Amino acid sequence: MGYRNVIVGTDGSETAELAVRHAAHLALAFGARLTIVTAFAPQPAAPTDIAEVPEDLKWRITDSAAADERAESAQRIAKELGVKDVRRRTSSGDPAAAIIDVAEDTGGDLIVVGSKGMASPSRFVLGSVPNKVSHHTPCDVMIVHTAS
Ligand SMILES: Nc1ncnc2c1ncn2[C@@H]1O[C@H](COP(=O)(O)OP(=O)(O)OP(=O)(O)O)[C@@H](O)[C@H]1O
Ligand SMILES: [Mg+2]
Repeated sequence: MGYRNVIVGTDGSETAELAVRHAAHLALAFGARLTIVTAFAPQPAAPTDIAEVPEDLKWRITDSAAADERAESAQRIAKELGVKDVRRRTSSGDPAAAIIDVAEDTGGDLIVVGSKGMASPSRFVLGSVPNKVSHHTPCDVMIVHTAS
C-alpha cells in the first residue's frame, strides 16, 4: 500500500522542522507528494510590544506573508532532501483544523506533526496541534517525538 500524499504542519519552529524532515524522508521513501501546511492567527486588535510576548507566543504567526515564508523554507528543506513534488498551503485560523482541511481537500493519507513546540511552557505535555489532529483526523497520523 504505502502513502501517496503526505501532509505536514509547521510553524517554522526548530521542532516542527524536525517533523518536516521526517515527513520528507517518508515522502521520498514512498514516492509520495508532500504538502506543507502553515496556519497563522490573525493579528491581535491591540498591538503588543514584542519584548513582552512570552517565548511560546513568538511562534504564533500573525500574517499570511510570514506564514508563507515559513512554509517556503520547509518546502526548500524537503526539496533539498530530494522530494520531487512539494506543495505548500497557508491558512488563517486553528492549525489543527487547517491541517485536517488540507488532508480532506487533497486526499491526504498521512498527516505528520511534531509532538510539541520547543519553547512552550507546556513542554512536558503533548502540544495542542497533535492532540486535536489525532482526535479529528481523516487519515493516519504520525506524531514525531520532537523534544527531550
Ligand atoms: N501554525 C502552525 N501551522 C501548522 N502546523 C503547526 C502550527 N503550529 C504547530 N504546528 C504543528 O504542531 C506541532 C506541535 O506544535 P504545538 O503548537 O501543538 O505545540 P506547542 O507549541 O508545544 O503547544 P501550544 O502551541 O499548544 O502551546 C508542530 O511540531 C507542528 O508540526
Ligand atoms: Mg505551538
